[in-house]
Amino acid sequence: MATYHQIPDDEKGYELDLFCVPKHYEEDLDRVIIPHGLIMDRTERLARDIVRDMGGHHIVALCVLKGGYKFFSDLLDYIKALNQNCDKSVPLTVDFIRLKSYCNDQSTNSVKVIGGDELSTLTGKDIVETGRTMETLLSLLSECNPKMVKVVSLLVKRTPRGSGYRPDYMGFEVPDWFLVGYALDYNEYFRDLGHICILNEKAKVKYKV
Ligand code: IMP
Ligand code: MG
Repeated sequence: MATYHQIPDDEKGYELDLFCVPKHYEEDLDRVIIPHGLIMDRTERLARDIVRDMGGHHIVALCVLKGGYKFFSDLLDYIKALNQNCDKSVPLTVDFIRLKSYCNDQSTNSVKVIGGDELSTLTGKDIVETGRTMETLLSLLSECNPKMVKVVSLLVKRTPRGSGYRPDYMGFEVPDWFLVGYALDYNEYFRDLGHICILNEKAKVKYKV
């Protein structure tokens, strides 16, 4: 069973004014839910757990774009740091795949896959909500008969819409809120925000398509 930090439903987060956010998003956000520093600290520990479990195996790290790119890159930086400073190291190659399923803050029920040319033994992902995106990807990957597939997701949402799918490694379990920042988007906005935050209702209308 993966261990993770649970963010409760009554989590208040942090006042926006306590942190630095881009000027162009100041009016759009309610609260900071996971500050960037905390994301990094948790990611550092996930890297340690992965290297411990994978010791010796070659890893093809597959990044699920676009939302997973920040987490993927930071996780790999921590794995690289361990590789050059520990007795045990894991050889790494990388690949990228793009999945698209969301419009506004709603799942569209269809998952589009673009790109990717190698099998994976490890996948890096932003967030699991219903689990549908990940289950689609896993069934595609299984057609390539990989030796082993491990899924690492920074966030998993507590939602009644969930399929029951749980990744092998997860950073945080979050309430059923639509979150943005650290590469998570709302119609492509907010990927350029360091902290994970909650959008306000005005912003949902402002950036609606
Ligand atoms: P699932 O297929 O329902 O698990 O949805 C997972 C995908 O939906 C993620 O890869 C994200 O792209 C998107 N998504 C789900 N919840 C959120 C959210 O709170 N913020 C931003 N994107 C989300
Ligand atoms: Mg998205």
